[in-house]
Amino acid sequence: MRPNDACFCGSGRKFKRCHAPSFERVRAGQVSPQRPVPDGVELPHYAAEGGRSRRDVPDVHPPETIEAMRRTGAAAAEILRTVGDAIAPGVTTEELDRICHEACLAAGGYPSPLNYGEPSYPKSICTSVNEVICHGIPDSRALRDGDIVNLDVTLFREGVHGDTNATWGVGTIDDLSRRLVRVTRECLEKGIEAVRPGRPTSDIGQAIQAHAEAEGFSVVRAFTGHGVAHEFHTGLHILHYFEPRDARVVMEPGMTFTIEPMIALGAWQHRLWDDEWTAVTTDGRRTAQFEHTLVVTDDGADILTLHPDGRWSGH
Ligand code: MF3
Ligand code: CO
Ligand code: CO
Repeated sequence: MRPNDACFCGSGRKFKRCHAPSFERVRAGQVSPQRPVPDGVELPHYAAEGGRSRRDVPDVHPPETIEAMRRTGAAAAEILRTVGDAIAPGVTTEELDRICHEACLAAGGYPSPLNYGEPSYPKSICTSVNEVICHGIPDSRALRDGDIVNLDVTLFREGVHGDTNATWGVGTIDDLSRRLVRVTRECLEKGIEAVRPGRPTSDIGQAIQAHAEAEGFSVVRAFTGHGVAHEFHTGLHILHYFEPRDARVVMEPGMTFTIEPMIALGAWQHRLWDDEWTAVTTDGRRTAQFEHTLVVTDDGADILTLHPDGRWSGH
């Protein structure tokens, strides 16, 4: 099909104005220099030298830690909303990174992604467009009408991390992308509903996988939810698909972790770009993601990354 042919879908529009964009792959742009963090900001241990989280730490926390996480989480949700409000065709992901970085500092915290991991992550937010599953690095690429973009914000403040993300459509998106985003949000809702003390963590993935596959979508396997509190990622993994071996890990009141399903239109398999962070689907089809940080309560779960107005970000 050539750009000026009538689109195969029967819309009557030119292919280039209709379905052609959904066959294009995201290409990396230029990554700008790292943004400075002023003196006086409380830093996580990896901020100067890079490096990963300590994995072998408790996942059940006392009420003071939970209350700190609730404050940090609410601030993270406000930042996610602020950055999301700037999404529009023509805006670069680099500009979204600037807004996130400044909002984290203005909130008196540190943008957890900055300098995290090995190789150390160079920016303050993850921006994952279309077939980018997660960990997209902000760069000079401008968002286009019809894209979908996930923004993943993590704030470190009061010694704890609040990790939350959402997916938005840019301008007008096609019906299938809209359904993907809606179903992915529902997958997170169903995962949260499955949280219950005394139950195995595998209930969460089981609920998510059932909903995604009933809608004809697939669940990304390689990236999972995780224990989070003083460390960004602990050794606790929350799978978004059913794994019977996880039936041995039991949820307890005071346990904190994320649920962050990545749902794919097609293949769930991924590959990494040469930057060693950006994960894309092998078939180039789109994925969406939503994430909250939660605490297990006596009878279910509390969302710690709730915006003060109670509404979730994204579309
Ligand atoms: N926020 C991501 C998560 O949900 C982790 C990003 S790691 C980074 O777990 F280094 F890419 F920021
Ligand atoms: Co996370
Ligand atoms: Co996240």
